[in-house]
Amino acid sequence: MTLLSVPGVTQITSGSNSANSVVAHLEPVFPGIKRTGGFCAQLAFHTVFHILRRLKAAGTLRVPSGGEYVPSSPGTSAHDGELNIKTEEISVSEKWIADRMHRIDASGIRKVFDLAATMERPINLSIGQPHFDTPQPIKDALCKAVQEGRNAYSQTQGIAPLLKQLQSDVDQRYGHSDRKVFVTSGTSGGLMLALCTLLNPGDEVIVFDPWFVMYKHLTTLAGGNVVQVSTYPDFRIRPEAVRAAITPRTKVILFNSPGNPTGAVASESEVRALAEIAAEHNIALISDEIYRAFCYDHPFRSPAEWNDRTIVIDGFSKSHSMTGLRLGFLHGPQYLIQQMTKLQQFTFVCAPHPVQWAGVTAWELDLTSNLEDYRRKRDMMVGLLKDDYEIHGGQGAFYLFLKTPWGTGTEFVTEAIRNNLLIIPGNVFSPSDTHFRLSFAAEDGMLREGAEILCRLARNPPKGMTRNT
Ligand SMILES: Cc1ncc(COP(=O)(O)O)c(C=O)c1O
Repeated sequence: MTLLSVPGVTQITSGSNSANSVVAHLEPVFPGIKRTGGFCAQLAFHTVFHILRRLKAAGTLRVPSGGEYVPSSPGTSAHDGELNIKTEEISVSEKWIADRMHRIDASGIRKVFDLAATMERPINLSIGQPHFDTPQPIKDALCKAVQEGRNAYSQTQGIAPLLKQLQSDVDQRYGHSDRKVFVTSGTSGGLMLALCTLLNPGDEVIVFDPWFVMYKHLTTLAGGNVVQVSTYPDFRIRPEAVRAAITPRTKVILFNSPGNPTGAVASESEVRALAEIAAEHNIALISDEIYRAFCYDHPFRSPAEWNDRTIVIDGFSKSHSMTGLRLGFLHGPQYLIQQMTKLQQFTFVCAPHPVQWAGVTAWELDLTSNLEDYRRKRDMMVGLLKDDYEIHGGQGAFYLFLKTPWGTGTEFVTEAIRNNLLIIPGNVFSPSDTHFRLSFAAEDGMLREGAEILCRLARNPPKGMTRNT
């Protein structure tokens, strides 16, 4: 362990001047370093952290415990003091980690899981997958495929019988002559192939805030930058806000309806406007339709109805409760599909072969009763929570994204966890920490218990907390 040691900097003290001098010393080594702070200890602290992050990313240092601000003596002003930052030289193997990995930060969700690990039998309303088991005919078809020896590689684009079923459905729905289907390793696999196929370094991807967690990280991994368009407070798409976010670097609009985490289902006019904006500006539109089957109040609409170049990402994970089996599919213009298939050939190779045979059976199943059950659960939760919570979204998927009645999302979720209820703070999905996500993919008893705790928490803010307006 050594104190932070950078050539020319022996000790980092807080305050504006020291922050300036630290930056001045580091400027030749790390061009572009900026002061992020103002004239107080707290901000100088941030400046130093910024520097440390850069050092870390450059593979020079590890900062095990971050650092602490120690005022010179009790009662001194915020300008005085010292930052004690312990660092250690990093191991060789950490030096091997590529820069792009440092740009992916999974700390938000990890914190929630760490907290959850301390709970004994939590009322768990945090789960992002159906609570029913994979239907028996799908399991039987999977076992049969394995027993029959369908365990080798399949064709990269998917097995013919599954492709035929999917293609015929897509042709029937859209009638686009150039629209082709291919089978992917989960919806996530499709998303990764699409973003890697479309993005050049620095390209911009418009995402709607709050977004599904993977979007930001996969965009970063593919070299792009996310540009967030807010949908708060009602989770509606505002076409004028999308237009305002478009720049010469905009390559992709990444859209998700029904949405995770909000459960919002975009209206026909919103979807149509988005489809038209993308066409008008020659921007690729990716539509993540994994929750397509879960629409409770009005029929699902895809932007592909108005924009024949839309890249649609779909899958069996949620509709058929097959999250662990990794089966998805993607459809779009043939040329793009060829490019993505090429990438699949050298990455995922194919979707799991026996699972594709199970997919053939899955496609024929009628799962309406499961979906009806989710509609009923949604109605029940809205009924139980509506007097204490402002509810927007929730027309689809199995999530409600609710504004906290007091405190930030993190503060509220911490208190919920203390009361044995596991939910997810909104800042996992957004730069705003004002909401929390609950999943109603759970048994009715657990949902009722969860709603009771939420109502009690809403009515009894902790001492010193005022109600959010
Ligand atoms: C919006 C959205 N897209 C994609 C995925 C990934 O699904 P899959 O299991 O098919 O990779 C999820 C999973 O939670 C999701 O919520």
